[in-house]
Amino acid sequence: MELRLRILLSFIAVVCVEPWKVSATCEFPAVFNFGDSNSDTGGLSAAFGQAGPPAGETYFHAPAGRYSDGRLIIDFIAESVGLPYLSAFLDALGSNFTHGANFATAGSTIRPPNATLSQSGFSPISLNVQWYEFHDFHRRSQIIRNRGGVFSQLMPKEEYFSRALYTFDIGQNDLTYGYFSNKSTDQVRDYVPDVLGQFKTVVKDIYDQGGRSFWIHNTGPVGCLPYVMDRVPITAGQVDKYGCADPFNEVAKFFNVKLKETVQKLRQELPEAAITYVDVYSVKYTLITKAEKFGKSCFRYYLIYNSNVKVKFMWISQNILS
Ligand SMILES: *[C@@H]1O[C@H](CO)[C@@H](O)[C@H](O)[C@H]1NC(C)=O
Ligand SMILES: *[C@@H]1O[C@H](CO)[C@@H](O)[C@H](O)[C@H]1NC(C)=O
Ligand SMILES: *[C@@H]1O[C@H](CO)[C@@H](O)[C@H](O)[C@H]1NC(C)=O
Repeated sequence: MELRLRILLSFIAVVCVEPWKVSATCEFPAVFNFGDSNSDTGGLSAAFGQAGPPAGETYFHAPAGRYSDGRLIIDFIAESVGLPYLSAFLDALGSNFTHGANFATAGSTIRPPNATLSQSGFSPISLNVQWYEFHDFHRRSQIIRNRGGVFSQLMPKEEYFSRALYTFDIGQNDLTYGYFSNKSTDQVRDYVPDVLGQFKTVVKDIYDQGGRSFWIHNTGPVGCLPYVMDRVPITAGQVDKYGCADPFNEVAKFFNVKLKETVQKLRQELPEAAITYVDVYSVKYTLITKAEKFGKSCFRYYLIYNSNVKVKFMWISQNILS
């Protein structure tokens, strides 16, 4: 697995080797990230209170705004391109945006949710809001930079916006949103094209603003997430041999097929862009289903009992990724 994750990260190099489109030197001076808890480095924590334990326990040794005890994939991406960890756009304290910003918040969807965080558990910072934030950030960071003084040292250079890597890890919550609103698997599948249409619009807007290098994660196996299995009724027959719920994983795979098609269309419509589609589903599913292979010490298991299934809940520790 270590190897696979290394391969995953080394794909970043591939973005740069395609010489026609992006800078020949293969250097990203900044990373701008959009997403949910998979890549939130402090956004939701800044606005709605720090993420609870084991947030930050094994690596940062203090709450670090992440819904993980260690580093997230986005942290490893930042490391692998030689940049500091991304500050959350919403975090007013100690943030430094010289080399990028993170607009992700835990619980974010692509489509705007129709309920508040307290009603639904979904973040109000959906992808369209993250885009407004980015747009505002782009414009105002340059005003601040040009003004000089102490804050100018915390802002990216204008040229970074076209040379940056734009990363996305979002969509998982759009699937659970439907299930939590009592929609059937078919109903969830039916709205996937609308979700991806909205995703596509945001990528195109960023391209129009100068973005050229895009790194897009597909969605993970939501059917292996205990909080999903705990909330949505499933029968024993719908659980695979690893304890994951088939219908939810099928819908995640459907989403990924459609996402891949969306990426292919974007490649045609945005001729100067280099867009990498990353199969995070396979990596996560392997981590979950072959946990023993990678050393039990790397995982913590939490057993949650739901009316008809026992599920393994594992936090992927930083150890497995480093
Ligand atoms: C912000 O980060 C950049 C790059 O890491 C660093 O050079 C700069 O000193 C930092 N600014 C402050 C005010 O810490
Ligand atoms: C919210 O409601 C509007 C109007 O009914 C609908 O078009 C939209 O798809 C809903 N959003 C979600 C996330 O369900
Ligand atoms: C979904 O169904 C459950 C059980 O019937 C109900 O308690 C809940 O309010 C429903 N949720 C929504 C969002 O309709």
